[in-house]
Amino acid sequence: MADDRSRHEVSGESNAGRVPGEIRSRLALALDMDDLVGARRLVSLLGPYFGTLKVGLELYSASGPDAVGGFADDGFDVFCDLKLHDIPTTVGRAARVVGSLGARWMTVHTMGGAAMVAAAVDGLAEGAAGAGLPTPGALGVTVLTSDETATGADLEARCEVAARNGCEGIICAAPDLPTTEPWADRLVRVVPGIRMPGSDPHDQSRVAGPGEALAAGADLLVIGRMVTAADDPVAAAEALVDSLLG
Ligand code: C5P
Repeated sequence: MADDRSRHEVSGESNAGRVPGEIRSRLALALDMDDLVGARRLVSLLGPYFGTLKVGLELYSASGPDAVGGFADDGFDVFCDLKLHDIPTTVGRAARVVGSLGARWMTVHTMGGAAMVAAAVDGLAEGAAGAGLPTPGALGVTVLTSDETATGADLEARCEVAARNGCEGIICAAPDLPTTEPWADRLVRVVPGIRMPGSDPHDQSRVAGPGEALAAGADLLVIGRMVTAADDPVAAAEALVDSLLG
């Protein structure tokens, strides 16, 4: 994994001491909800399994700074999934705010081009420096699963935009891992759309199993409804970790 986790003291063993740190550090829980109280309740149940918490547009819109700062203070890597895409000045200013909150990661659309991605990276660094915090890594969103028109060449071009403009990683679907392999030594690869074999794909069209995605080179798995929408989320998290043990 290409990131420097020593910059942020997180992960390690679960409360119960049963979830190995090397597994927990590869798992990000998607807090796709608009209620910080509910998110905290979920984290109190599932935190032992996940080193990273993903704050998406819903939760960020509801309680962004409180969510990011609070979970960072609790020792989690916080992944601000805002998928920024606007003019470079606006993206840079928004990234500066996120950089000041204590996030570990923030997403930006590589489709926005080199200047916009560079502005995001610079904004994160400025915000973090102003707050005396480590600089969050920018993650370049490559191809959304809803985008049925992007080609392999588009994917490669977007990886290059991310790598050349200071991103620490990319977001890509599991089937895109082979195409993004040439950037694996420069970019952390974060993969959503993870499902246990045979489970409900929901609206995900390009799913993969957790072990399969890690074996294909994913560094960090984004885990959402596979666990959060399960009848018993703790049992689903246990099953996920069990599938990665041994
Ligand atoms: O589908 P799941 O609940 O596992 O989604 C987890 C994350 O994957 C979401 O927070 C969203 O950012 C992303 N996602 C995606 N493509 C979809 C649906 C969700 O990449 N079609």
